[in-house]
Amino acid sequence: MKYAEIISRMTLEEKASLTSGKDFWQSMDIARLNIGSMFLSDGPHGIRKQAAAADHLGLNPSIPATCFPTSATVANSWNEALGEEIGEYLGREAVAQKVNVLLGPGINMKRNPLCGRNFEYFSEDPYLAGKIAAGYIRGIQSQGISACVKHFCVNNQEERRMAIDTVVDERTLREVYLTAFEIAVKEGKTKSIMSSYNLLNGTYTNENVHLMYDILRGEWGFNGVVITDWGGSNDRVAGLIAGNELEMPTTAGETNEEIIQAIKSGRMKEEVLDQCVDRLLDLIFTTEEIYKESSSEFSKEKHHRIAQKVAEESIVLLKNDENILPLKKGTQVAIIGDFAEKPRYQGAGSSIVNPTMLHNSLDCFKESEFISVGYESGFERYGKKSKKKIEKACELAKKADVILLYIGLDEATEAEGLDRQDMKIPDNQIDLLNALYEVNQNIVVILSCGSAIEMPWIKKVKAVLHGYLGGQAGSSAMLRVLSGEVNPSGKLAETYPLHYEDTPSFDNFPGKEVSVEYREAVYIGYRYYDTANIDVLFPFGYGLSYTTFEYSDIKVNKDKVTFKIRNTGTVPGMEVAQLYVGCRSKEIFRPKKELKGFAKVFIDPGETKTVTIPFDDKTFRYFNVKTNKWEVEQSDYKILIGASSDDIRLIDSIFIEGTGAPLPYNKELLPSYYSGKANNVGKEEFETLIGRKVPVSTWDRKKPIGYNDTIAQCQYAKGWFARFAFHMITFAYWFLRKIGKRMTANVIMMSIYHMPFRGIARMTGGVVNMPMVDGILMIANGHFFKGLSHLLKERSKLIKGIRSDETIAKVIKES
Ligand code: BGC
Repeated sequence: MKYAEIISRMTLEEKASLTSGKDFWQSMDIARLNIGSMFLSDGPHGIRKQAAAADHLGLNPSIPATCFPTSATVANSWNEALGEEIGEYLGREAVAQKVNVLLGPGINMKRNPLCGRNFEYFSEDPYLAGKIAAGYIRGIQSQGISACVKHFCVNNQEERRMAIDTVVDERTLREVYLTAFEIAVKEGKTKSIMSSYNLLNGTYTNENVHLMYDILRGEWGFNGVVITDWGGSNDRVAGLIAGNELEMPTTAGETNEEIIQAIKSGRMKEEVLDQCVDRLLDLIFTTEEIYKESSSEFSKEKHHRIAQKVAEESIVLLKNDENILPLKKGTQVAIIGDFAEKPRYQGAGSSIVNPTMLHNSLDCFKESEFISVGYESGFERYGKKSKKKIEKACELAKKADVILLYIGLDEATEAEGLDRQDMKIPDNQIDLLNALYEVNQNIVVILSCGSAIEMPWIKKVKAVLHGYLGGQAGSSAMLRVLSGEVNPSGKLAETYPLHYEDTPSFDNFPGKEVSVEYREAVYIGYRYYDTANIDVLFPFGYGLSYTTFEYSDIKVNKDKVTFKIRNTGTVPGMEVAQLYVGCRSKEIFRPKKELKGFAKVFIDPGETKTVTIPFDDKTFRYFNVKTNKWEVEQSDYKILIGASSDDIRLIDSIFIEGTGAPLPYNKELLPSYYSGKANNVGKEEFETLIGRKVPVSTWDRKKPIGYNDTIAQCQYAKGWFARFAFHMITFAYWFLRKIGKRMTANVIMMSIYHMPFRGIARMTGGVVNMPMVDGILMIANGHFFKGLSHLLKERSKLIKGIRSDETIAKVIKES
């Protein structure tokens, strides 16, 4: 242990106290030993440091900070170095705000397009997500603080996120859901990781010894700190035993006491606590070094310009018929769509940033060389239909050469805490588009959405530019692409299916009650569409440019692939070349091909560049469930170089010697997986894959409600009061939506409806403790008076205790 000497001077109580928060955002300090507290702040695309009232829902304001494009946007840049640059700037701002741990990036896989937090995640591909995340982490940590990569792991839906059990086979877990984390740990060297809320194969992730010890610490050599997601601790002692050093936020000492008791009773050895404290001290001491120097400031203007540069490199040109883009100088444009006036530039929830400045497209146009014939909002942002708005927009459209139509998803639709209901943009926007098409067919769509959408209207428009959620400088970045000052070079980091029904997890998303079964296994995103031959709207890795590129001269050896790219157009541009590898042997089922490398190169017109993509430890590996190890299958492998997953330009092959492992599967028993048609796997076949029976996925409606049951389950409660409360909550949700307060309605879903009962104690900073939750549960289970009296008794005990404890009293007052 690095800090054995200090630890030997600490009391058991002091050691336990370090393992949970002091308040909502800070870890505990011990003044006597000069151990300071750490400040932890969201987040992934800008700092959300709350100076006053604290919450994890994005409700209360935070100190202004640069709002960079969200991760879903940046992933489209396919630029690891750019990731590192954003990280550096995030790190600088974090230091300026005295933050020790930055809670990001979020690197969960986009298993399904409807996951409410997809806008915060990078990709459906673990290699791409891992590489860009590693860049962020290196950048953030270069400033002397810690990144905190999250949410570890299989947190791929928001519905019941705090209690859902993800059922997934070991190979899929390793190959698809853990690889990005592995890269973040090994290459990014993240100093901390946030465990997710959910369970993995029956055990909460932060108590999951297999995940936290065998894999994270054992196989990957992670020596940093694991932090619970806010309020995500279940059994604190089990969490600590699994190596979860820090529980956040505070529970006002309640769980520290559980740790002390566990040591006294012999459930846990004191050495386990000591080791956790040792790693915590390392994080505390190494992230406070920077604050010993003079305080730093940052230039808002400069950071804004960086945010713009990032947005520019992340915009994806999806369609450009008749080369309508870039717009010619002097073009008369009609600017239509509410998003031009009120940009949609980030998502909702804990990642929300209070931007230092924000421009909209109308302001940007005033300074451009285009002639604007005017602006019309054309639709009501939250979906209400308005004929009048459409008529006015059509009148304006008649006067213009080109319509710039700003449409997309509103901020209440893509939010933490709840999943989207469908992949559509609101009907009133499509009605507008259809009406405009009747009066002027030169329509350029500028999209703002943080995740994939269906586009049944695409034939009616000439061009589509997708800005995703471009951060505070997104509007100016978009204008520079429209004008051609910037040649778009973004490529999609996720597939756009034609219809939501085509997605491989369609039948198994979201898990509604107890569990969610990942029956599609390794076939997520392009891995599925490609292998099962399903047509898509836009494939993974797709994006156009104002120039064209020609690929040639592929050469493969055992270490790398080399090839040439020539810019055959008239303007300079950047191309993202993608390396996919496909195994020719059919002995072990696999996706037809998988991304194993990529390179982004800038090329002048007429110029040819040689590109090299090295192979690495992931190029040929697969996880063998028999040997429980990464293995290589002996076979010929196709080496494919593509401009997208569906546009392969060069092919070669290489023979690779295998590791000689036994075949892990019986082909006959897994027909869907061997054919790749894994969208409709039966229960029996899935059970064969995972090697056990799947747990019952629905609630036992007769069972009394317990700590880990959610408030939504009160609909089946024995107690009338709980059922009444449930109906009040659902009514409030319905009513708030009805009157247009969708954000507030979402908060109800996020913070009440899907909250497990234990969360009431974990999230209230000591106002409610677990004995009080017992009283609440008695009420829910039909013992109203007994429960109420228990609740009041425990509350008065708590208050009496608090009066004698000033620290806890302070925490309660603050919350
Ligand atoms: C989110 C985390 C976030 C934390 C603190 C949680 O609800 O899942 O991503 O870092 O709150 O705001």
